[in-house]
Amino acid sequence: MEQLMKDFFLFLSKNKALNAAAKKWGLRFGANRFVSGETIEEAISKVRELNEKGLVCTLDHLGEFVFSTEEANESADYCIKTLEAIYKSGVDCNLSLKMTSLGLDISRELCINNMRRILEFARDHGNIFVRIDMEDYAHKNITLEILHELLEDYSNVGTVIQAYLYDTVGDIEALKDKKVNLRLVKGAYKESPEVAFPNKADVDENYKKIIKQHLLYGNYAAVATHDDAIIDYVKKLEKEYNIPRTQFEFQMLYGIRTQTQIDLANEGYKMRVYVPYGNDWYGYFMRRLAERPANVAFVLKGMFTK
Ligand code: FDA
Repeated sequence: MEQLMKDFFLFLSKNKALNAAAKKWGLRFGANRFVSGETIEEAISKVRELNEKGLVCTLDHLGEFVFSTEEANESADYCIKTLEAIYKSGVDCNLSLKMTSLGLDISRELCINNMRRILEFARDHGNIFVRIDMEDYAHKNITLEILHELLEDYSNVGTVIQAYLYDTVGDIEALKDKKVNLRLVKGAYKESPEVAFPNKADVDENYKKIIKQHLLYGNYAAVATHDDAIIDYVKKLEKEYNIPRTQFEFQMLYGIRTQTQIDLANEGYKMRVYVPYGNDWYGYFMRRLAERPANVAFVLKGMFTK
């Protein structure tokens, strides 16, 4: 039943008509539990509130389905506006983005040009770090190729490695000497057993393996999970191998396990909250529901209270 619901919400997340309609609705159905606001002003104000609680943030301007060069450039402009707002407001925050929204599916050159524009602005305005979110497997190799190219010229960029993929150990090994800051996650997309572990237990095991691998290489890890077993594992590694707290951080999504986020910050860990904003919230919201159908209860409540 749970798998059926997951598939249903992932199916809904790809519905272009609903996505287009939702932009006009405003944040509805309880989406404001997971999306910080529609405007950059609202997002910065949420980031400031989180900073006051001891949490650092990464902002993501939501965007789905980019079909034209104009849309890709507009999306890059939004990233730059977000960086400008972070810089001017002085909040403790960096930026996350998706390369498909910068035109990756249109042309590699368009995407790289947009990435360079963003990274240069970020470097010149407080050297803000920019994280390339990892999308589905079809985009994995090209994302890593582009990252390797960008690392030749910029040090304020990193990406995400997904533990559910068989390739991960090799991908981390290939980045070892570049000293890159990697966000490590379980993986959120529906992938075939040809490329990804179908069993959750194997994903969890591989997740632990790559966290250890990356940390013992001496490189910076952002461990992005809501799973206590993984958080405890990182704490165990910290003690066992004397890993300094400046070499890793935890990350969680806005609106999920908020008290745990505060507890980890109070324990002295760097805790970064992924804060999405924008009017293109529909796909992101559906993916959160797919991840945890228990959240549907919030949606039902939202439908009657909005
Ligand atoms: P998992 O879903 O296995 O849950 C384990 C346990 O955690 C649960 O049993 C429960 O106890 C607790 N838990 C989980 N969700 C909860 C909730 N909503 N409320 C309460 N408890 C909950 N993926 C990707 O493919 N590319 C990317 O770029 C990113 N980026 C990213 C950034 C950040 C900051 C995060 C936190 C996650 C991502 N992800 C991602 C998503 C990631 O791959 C994964 O799908 C989700 O984090 C869910 O996996 P968990 O590790 O949280 O544990």
